Amino acid sequence: MSELPRVGILTSGGDCPGLNAVIRSVVKASTRFGYEVVGFKRGYEGLIDPPDYMFLDRKNTLGIIARGGTILGSTNKGHFSARRGVSERIDLDPRLIDKVRQTYKDLRLEALICVGGDGSLAVAEQFEEAGLPVVGVPKTIDNDLSSTAFSFGFDSAVACATDAIDRLYTTAISHERVMVVEVMGRHAGWIALHAGISGGASVILLPEIPWTFENVCRKIEERDRDGKRFSIVVVAEGAQLPGGNLVTIGEPSGPAMAQVHLGGIGDVVAREIEHRLQREVRSVVLGHLQRGGPPTYFDRMLATQYGAHAVRLVVQRRFGEMVCYHPPEISSVPIRVAVGKLSQVPRDGSAIQAARALGICFGEHAPGESIRALGWR
Ligand code: F6P
Repeated sequence: MSELPRVGILTSGGDCPGLNAVIRSVVKASTRFGYEVVGFKRGYEGLIDPPDYMFLDRKNTLGIIARGGTILGSTNKGHFSARRGVSERIDLDPRLIDKVRQTYKDLRLEALICVGGDGSLAVAEQFEEAGLPVVGVPKTIDNDLSSTAFSFGFDSAVACATDAIDRLYTTAISHERVMVVEVMGRHAGWIALHAGISGGASVILLPEIPWTFENVCRKIEERDRDGKRFSIVVVAEGAQLPGGNLVTIGEPSGPAMAQVHLGGIGDVVAREIEHRLQREVRSVVLGHLQRGGPPTYFDRMLATQYGAHAVRLVVQRRFGEMVCYHPPEISSVPIRVAVGKLSQVPRDGSAIQAARALGICFGEHAPGESIRALGWR
């Protein structure tokens, strides 16, 4: 049996393009630094009862940079839930941590690289507090982690949503319809904002900006008067209705009823526009299409850099850190600083300002007012 030092890796939370690229990068870099790599299956679940893992090497990770999903599997359910709502922490059962400690010992793990979003990294944070060496890698299509400009997966999700909007545009224009597109993102509007601007949407509804149906309908009518008898409305799944309610599917689930399943706002918005304007409106929910398929070149690049820098942190024994991207450099921050703070779209950020200058409506102003609200002159 080999006596090489070992590093573990797991992928946790919702899958997204780029996970396999991180795994490959960690395996290639670790091998070169003389480590053996243990890949745990189904996220943190693979650490216990009994541990479920595979040894990863250059051969069984060959060519996976371009493949979506994760060869290790993942889950956003199960025993290891450390977040309720947006930022409330749930303390892990100490018996779970003891089992994980045993796995570290039995498999001679020097460190564990945890690839996940805010909830998954909040688990890693608690391992670190219990003295188990961890390194974090930020993953989420939602791009809602505050300590990094980008998590990998986001660019691929935006590419998918933009492509979908391009396709819906042709029906919108041919049939003079309003097309409502619901995109993912949980409580952050990054996907909606980026895909909406890139796809040429007329209206974008975000969790960060309160909006009214009156303003949305006025924008559509204004376009009609201009001879543009079609509109694309992009709605983030986590945008609140004018009364403040979220649209969800079913009841909260998971440990301590921690998870709400967002979804359905696109249809609610479509029906209300149809009712108010008495015209044909169709809605499309992009759902998990946004998490599938091969990663874009940007996500492959980011995931590869994250994987290599995570190995650097292990080699330098800088545990408890999460790699992050502050363009143009990859650096790291303590995991405890990175988690629990949602990164949302700044209401007056440059992307919002550019969109307003172009006449894109966020539903908070009547069309004529939005240029004045910019305050550029
Ligand atoms: O966090 C990623 C994400 O895709 C969110 O955008 C979405 O709300 C959620 O996961 C969906 O989760 P599930 O795969 O459990 O339906």
